[in-house]
Amino acid sequence: METVNPVMLDELTVDREPFYVDSHNQIPHALGAYEARIPILLRGPTGCGKTRFMERLVWEIDQHGFRASDTGEGPGSKTPLMTVACHEDLTSGDLVGRYVLQGESTVWMDGPLTTAVRHGAICYLDELAEARRDTTVVVHAVTDYRRMLPIERLGTVIRAHPSFLLVASHNPASDMGLRLLRDSTAQRFMTIDFSYPDEDVEAEILVKEGGIHSDLAASLVKLGVGIRRQQLAAGSVLPSTRLLVHAAKLVHHGESPVAACEFAVIRTIATDASEQEGMIELARALLPE
Ligand SMILES: Nc1ncnc2c1ncn2[C@@H]1O[C@H](COP(=O)(O)OP(=O)(O)OP(=O)(O)O)[C@@H](O)[C@H]1O
Ligand SMILES: [Mg+2]
Repeated sequence: METVNPVMLDELTVDREPFYVDSHNQIPHALGAYEARIPILLRGPTGCGKTRFMERLVWEIDQHGFRASDTGEGPGSKTPLMTVACHEDLTSGDLVGRYVLQGESTVWMDGPLTTAVRHGAICYLDELAEARRDTTVVVHAVTDYRRMLPIERLGTVIRAHPSFLLVASHNPASDMGLRLLRDSTAQRFMTIDFSYPDEDVEAEILVKEGGIHSDLAASLVKLGVGIRRQQLAAGSVLPSTRLLVHAAKLVHHGESPVAACEFAVIRTIATDASEQEGMIELARALLPE
């Protein structure tokens, strides 16, 4: 039977060194997991660097030559990173594949998971807990010692390429505890916890990503930490490193620091006018005009 594969795996490799500050020395643990082919779960709030960590991990895998020597299938010496955003309408067919009409005939099209399993990519299931439980079970056989992916609709099972690994992310704050992974899914992974970087590291990130001076970066981080403290006490949303990077970028492009924080950070996390005003006051106190 003819199969079509619309994904160009060569385009999914990580060719430039991603900037990632590994302040908690977690990359070596993830590299160890890759060598042992143990799936990895990255757990942490939005905007704390999980996706960037993934890109860096893939780059490190290639630098260390940990990819299995070319088996003749797949893109060669570099590891593709195949990301799937999980959501509640994601079906196992979306992951594994389905028949599609092509002209007069019906052809099988591999889904992203099957493509990664066949060709030795790393499959990153972003926000795995968002997918329905009956969808997540399709990864079970390929994430335990069997490393086999059953494809029911083809009546076949495929053996994972030696370089294949599944990585998933989970943001415990976004689901308010409602969407936990079932134990039998969670216990197929080793787990790395993420939180917002320490102040000096976060400032370094703002300098590098936002293109601002280190003094201003330090002030932005102070504001970020101050807002996080207040929001945590109120049980409200915390501003992520991503939002501080946005503010830094706006300043780099000519916005005033206070206005940059007002629009990139404060209005993004708070809708209540008095809450916003309190945070804007804090920004005025901590940031230059
Ligand atoms: N340790 C770090 N080194 C370099 N950049 C970082 C680090 N931590 C966070 N960042 C920065 O934070 C921003 C957000 O990171 P990223 O998109 O990876 O977050 P995420 O955890 O994947 O979020 P989400 O759960 O919403 O997908 C990026 O701009 C990235 O540069
Ligand atoms: Mg992400």
